[in-house]
Amino acid sequence: MFPCLHFDLRQSSRVVNMGRESGHVGWIICRFVVLAAIFLTGFIIGWFGRPSPVPSTAETPDRLDQFLLQIQAQNIRQYLRDFSRLPHLAGTEQNLRLAERIRDDWAEFGLDGVEIVSYDVLLSYPNQSRPNYISILDTHRQEIFNTSLSEPVPEGYENISDIVPPYNAFSAQGQPEGELVYVNYGRTEDFFQLERDMGINCSGKIAIARYGKIFRGNKVKNAMLAGAAGIILRRRPPLTPGYPAKEYTYRFDPEEGVGLPKIPVHPIGYDDAVHLLKNMGGADPPSGWKGALNVSYRIGPGFTGHAHNQSVRLNVYSTNQVTRIYNVIGKIQGAEEPDRYVILGGHRDAWVFGGIDPLSGAATVHEIARSAGTLLKTGWRPRRTMLFASWDAEEFGLLGSTEWAEENAKILQERAVAYINADSAIEGMYTLRVDCTPSLHTLVYDITKKVSSPEDGEESLSLYDSWHKRDNWTSERNAPRISKLGSGSDFEAYFIRLGIAAGRARYTKNRVTERYSSYPLYHSVYETFELVAVWYDSSFRRLEAVARVRAGLVFRLADSRLLPLDCEEYALALQKYSKVIRDLAYTHPDAISMYNVSFDPLFSAVQNFTKAARDFHQRLNTLDTSNDLKMRMVNDQLMYLERAFVDPLGLPGRPFYRHVIFAPSSHNKYAGESFPGIYDALFGIEHAVDAPLAWREVKRQISIATFTVQAAAMTLTPPA
Ligand SMILES: *[C@@H]1O[C@H](CO)[C@@H](O)[C@H](O)[C@H]1NC(C)=O
Ligand SMILES: *[C@@H]1O[C@H](CO)[C@@H](O)[C@H](O)[C@H]1NC(C)=O
Ligand SMILES: *[C@@H]1O[C@H](CO)[C@@H](O)[C@H](O)[C@H]1NC(C)=O
Ligand SMILES: *[C@@H]1O[C@H](CO)[C@@H](O)[C@H](O)[C@H]1NC(C)=O
Ligand SMILES: *[C@@H]1O[C@H](CO)[C@@H](O)[C@H](O)[C@H]1NC(C)=O
Ligand SMILES: *[C@@H]1O[C@H](CO)[C@@H](O)[C@H](O)[C@H]1NC(C)=O
Ligand SMILES: *[C@@H]1O[C@H](CO)[C@@H](O)[C@H](O)[C@H]1NC(C)=O
Ligand SMILES: *[C@@H]1O[C@H](CO)[C@@H](O)[C@H](O)[C@H]1NC(C)=O
Ligand SMILES: *[C@@H]1O[C@H](CO)[C@@H](O)[C@H](O)[C@H]1NC(C)=O
Ligand SMILES: [Zn+2]
Repeated sequence: MFPCLHFDLRQSSRVVNMGRESGHVGWIICRFVVLAAIFLTGFIIGWFGRPSPVPSTAETPDRLDQFLLQIQAQNIRQYLRDFSRLPHLAGTEQNLRLAERIRDDWAEFGLDGVEIVSYDVLLSYPNQSRPNYISILDTHRQEIFNTSLSEPVPEGYENISDIVPPYNAFSAQGQPEGELVYVNYGRTEDFFQLERDMGINCSGKIAIARYGKIFRGNKVKNAMLAGAAGIILRRRPPLTPGYPAKEYTYRFDPEEGVGLPKIPVHPIGYDDAVHLLKNMGGADPPSGWKGALNVSYRIGPGFTGHAHNQSVRLNVYSTNQVTRIYNVIGKIQGAEEPDRYVILGGHRDAWVFGGIDPLSGAATVHEIARSAGTLLKTGWRPRRTMLFASWDAEEFGLLGSTEWAEENAKILQERAVAYINADSAIEGMYTLRVDCTPSLHTLVYDITKKVSSPEDGEESLSLYDSWHKRDNWTSERNAPRISKLGSGSDFEAYFIRLGIAAGRARYTKNRVTERYSSYPLYHSVYETFELVAVWYDSSFRRLEAVARVRAGLVFRLADSRLLPLDCEEYALALQKYSKVIRDLAYTHPDAISMYNVSFDPLFSAVQNFTKAARDFHQRLNTLDTSNDLKMRMVNDQLMYLERAFVDPLGLPGRPFYRHVIFAPSSHNKYAGESFPGIYDALFGIEHAVDAPLAWREVKRQISIATFTVQAAAMTLTPPA
């Protein structure tokens, strides 16, 4: 009942396809519910700082406990309040001002060095004097209906200028006209069904998609493949793909539009969606295609009844502009191993006020930097170097984090131990959510046992226990659920391109009962400080708990003598994922035997990896931990294990997706896929034009996975 249905062409709100968590929510219904709740509870807001239970049983808190206890809800509250007063769209003066403030604060907190690093990248903005909209045309091509041009601004923010209306960044300019075709979620299979089963040719038509299920960029791609005059959203439009956007770097001409959408795209709201859909004609929708709006969901093409001669026009006037963006990079030099880096990074740019995305995360990074600075003043210094990053232009395709990763790729390949991402810290009020590489599982469990539950009435429980109770990983083990990393935020270049162990943690909704994707008001103008302070986390203890988890991960990775990475967890994950992909392939048993497809070599490699990981951890028990050189040798094996899963050639057609075990799905960028090369080769193989060729590719991908897992296993064997 809270499914908040949405329409992609509106929902894609404000941007594109670029780095985002997970889609929007139908916000009309949700907006009403949330605003009503805000109104009702508005009088009883009160934020009371409760004493934080000591997160350790130790009599005298150790350094980690000191670090975690430094992190305080009221500071996070204050940073979020300060950061979210104004819009911080990438490329704007206001977002540069915020970068300067963060730089100055970090220096004052006591970090060893802070710098602002700039890049010139392609961004996209609406034309302020020519708004984008969609219209319905009558037979005389008069615009008899126009969609709304902006969202009403929430109370208290009326006088603020520079609020961008919802738009799809990097949309092509243009005014295509055509008949509307309803394409359900716009998934690959939806377009197959339209073409094959219903005989609908989308060529020259304007597609309208329902909200949800897959990443918007994939919908647009599918629409374009189907020939629609609709939309395309490709992630990260690179002018300098693979290399940092410095002054000296060769640039493609923006007009050449490398990888940019070639058709206009525009997001619409609930009322406008009803208006466009209500008169649609054509066939009734297949089962499962009906959304939650009070309309027929007929497929089209075009309208029926009195409207049968009307058509639809997109009016898109946005322009792509090369614009300067700014990352803030802070550093705490490591005492013993300054050439080993642990990175905590999250973005700063927001669509509008960014009360949740990203500033709830930026506020946690700020508080963690302050806490680290406070500890430095007591004489502590981490064993390894800690880097803090405030990325720009994440919303335009992870641009700031990717440019910095490109500029520093060689150094990072040599020196980066781990990357912890710090985007939005909260998307629900239920429990913790963690996505990370398998080797971080054990550390995540250890840290969450040291943090107390932020929930009322759970003062004696650890975050681990509270999380376990609410999201038991029952099918897997008796422990809280941890998921694999997909994409949609700044860890992508670090994990999937460079092979650096990575993870993220945030507070989330109940995955069983709250089935909408992302959270209500996601990326809307209503994502304000008040939304967090009144609705999501009035005590700021949930954000405090998330900050402590992020801080604890970074602290242990930077300060433990032996790196807290667990290869045996990687082995368990490989065992699971190899069975999953084998089972997927065996849904085609006839082809498996006809083309002699075997997973035995992959299973053999996984078995060898499992043994190598077990032996490695056993050797750690007898390791002479006072021998610095020996410690460094095993730590290097641990650090470089993730790197061993990188294939320099990348996945087919995706040169920057180089991790052989994990990649975002080609068909839904938000979802993480395991053994993505094999998965993609199997996708839709029953419709392959040349089946022998398609199955040869499956075999090739199995051999690449086998080689990579075996090679990774070899890196864990004793060096001599
Ligand atoms: C915005 O639209 C105005 C009016 O049509 C036009 O003169 C101007 O060149 C446009 N600006 C950009 C950046 O395209
Ligand atoms: C739609 O907008 C166009 C351009 O501003 C205007 O000419 C037209 O009258 C509008 N139509 C309606 C129904 O508001
Ligand atoms: C907005 O500006 C008007 C006129 O300057 C002023 O009267 C009003 O108090 C301002 N509102 C807010 C919320 O600042
Ligand atoms: C769809 O229509 C376009 C243009 O009318 C045409 O070129 C194309 O062959 C059609 N596709 C199919 C599958 O009929
Ligand atoms: C659905 O739409 C029909 C026709 O427009 C209207 O008669 C009916 O009252 C609507 N139902 C609801 C629940 O709004
Ligand atoms: C609709 O279009 C048809 C031809 O495409 C035309 O014959 C008819 O008169 C039009 N009807 C109206 C109401 O404009
Ligand atoms: C989690 O699930 C396991 C297996 O069903 C069960 O034994 C355990 O008690 C559950 N733990 C919690 C905290 O619910
Ligand atoms: C099938 O592959 C196995 C090795 O995986 C090989 O021994 C066997 O000869 C192959 N059979 C055919 C018919 O190609
Ligand atoms: C696994 O190890 C065994 C024993 O060393 C070896 O024979 C086998 O070839 C290995 N598997 C792969 C896929 O390399
Ligand atoms: Zn974000």
